[in-house]
Amino acid sequence: MATRSALINVMEKAADKTARSLKRDFGELENLQVSRKGPADFVSAADLKAEKTIKEELSKARPGYGFIMEESGEQKASDGSGRRWIVDPLDGTTNFLHGLPHFAISIALEERGEIIAGLVYDPIKNDLFHAERGAGAYQNGRRLRVSARNRLADCLIATGAPFLGHGDRATFLGEIDVIMENTSGVRRWGSAALDLAYVAAGRFEAFWERGLSSWDVAAGVILVREAGGYVSEMNGKSFNLDSPSILASNNNTHSDLMKLLRKPLSNQKAQ
Ligand code: IPD
Ligand code: CA
Ligand code: CA
Repeated sequence: MATRSALINVMEKAADKTARSLKRDFGELENLQVSRKGPADFVSAADLKAEKTIKEELSKARPGYGFIMEESGEQKASDGSGRRWIVDPLDGTTNFLHGLPHFAISIALEERGEIIAGLVYDPIKNDLFHAERGAGAYQNGRRLRVSARNRLADCLIATGAPFLGHGDRATFLGEIDVIMENTSGVRRWGSAALDLAYVAAGRFEAFWERGLSSWDVAAGVILVREAGGYVSEMNGKSFNLDSPSILASNNNTHSDLMKLLRKPLSNQKAQ
């Protein structure tokens, strides 16, 4: 059984309350899909409401901690603890907007630059992932281990792709080409927090993406590490929350994937 600390209970309570409002709004969306204006404004309102709920709940339980949140920015800790919450209230906004039931609430706690706890909650599938430094990673109370696969040919790899106005398509197309050629498949499911949780759960062997923000990955990174996986930048440099890229894996496949992902870049330089 999971060892749920007081800290994880606080995070879970905040996620639970937020999940109720996100689920209600997700249900409402069905009626809005047909309107000409579309549901975009409604979704940004749902997103803001979710962030407000999480902030209120976490502040009530731990009044002095700081925050870094996707919508409302940064607020420094006021209690000298050097701790701050890193929150994405809705990861997978595009899925949410299109009625696709694959999105999550992501909450991490950082202490003086180090992530010490993380929680990713998918309210539709009722999948609650949590991890605490040194205490392991869990899914609904069950201990998680990364996958044991080591032959790339057997591996399923997740990623995030550039879209209108975001990211470098040429680089990404080179990367996905070489990964498709060498693995049993690629998935682009639209929630980086869940992609990382799935690496921790052994569903994906690895995940790579460029240009993510701290709130997309902070909770997922500790899930992967506590499940026995490895996280670095795509070039192997050690990962921090400002890193320009992420490669998270089951460890066994890390160096092979790193070598493959370097190929398209060196080809580009040679041209
Ligand atoms: C996005 C998701 C997606 C990733 C994007 C992120 P959002 O977060 O994590 O999987 O590919 O880069 O911005 O906007 O849905 O919170
Ligand atoms: Ca996000
Ligand atoms: Ca978001």
